Amino acid sequence: MTPRAITIRLAEPRDSQAIATMSRDFIESGLGWKYDAARVLRAMRDRDTLAVVACEGAKAAAKGVVAGFAIMEFGDERAHLVLLAVRPSHRRLGIGQRMLDWMLDSARVAGMASIHLELRAGNDAARRFYRAMGFYETVLVPGYYRSGEGRKEGALRMLRVLRAPGPVPYTWRPPKTEDT
Ligand SMILES: CC(C)(COP(=O)(O)OP(=O)(O)OC[C@H]1O[C@@H](n2cnc3c(N)ncnc32)[C@H](O)[C@@H]1OP(=O)(O)O)[C@@H](O)C(=O)NCCC(=O)NCCS
Repeated sequence: MTPRAITIRLAEPRDSQAIATMSRDFIESGLGWKYDAARVLRAMRDRDTLAVVACEGAKAAAKGVVAGFAIMEFGDERAHLVLLAVRPSHRRLGIGQRMLDWMLDSARVAGMASIHLELRAGNDAARRFYRAMGFYETVLVPGYYRSGEGRKEGALRMLRVLRAPGPVPYTWRPPKTEDT
């Protein structure tokens, strides 16, 4: 399979169970399961949240077979990349990068100044992925993640700056006529 066989599209309600299962198995494993299908569906319906899925091939996209997904929330100037995962069988094919590129483009168009995320402190693969994508570590937060059994785990916060914070300069000028 090549990365060309992958279709990235907006997530739809029919994808919510597949997304939730991937979140449970590949992101929240051992921490309890917060992003169940109902929560994913709520996120999808939230006007300030963007969710995309990667599907294998055009036919697979129509059938809704999900190889990866990403969810991002938009604030006034800061976007928060909430979840991103690719199935183990589909990793290192550029799928994570393509979904993140979609998120980055959307954040720029929406005027975001920066994108923030947290990941489990021991998640070296994701840390390397985000570093390769232009993010850098800002702070380690001990005990950020807690499972139902009282297990705690630290989080690493990462950031990618898109533009200087503050108002975006308004660059429009009225068109000039031949007389001016
Ligand atoms: C992190 C994750 C999303 C990366 O997805 P992916 O589709 O395999 O990533 P890509 O193929 O787009 O990788 C792009 C680049 O990132 C870097 N990278 C990705 N995975 C890496 C790894 N395991 N080790 C080192 N570098 C890695 C590489 O530079 C890679 O380019 P290359 O393959 O040409 O060397 C995937 O490993 C995953 O789903 N992990 C489990 C879920 C998770 O941890 N999500 C993040 C926290 S929410």
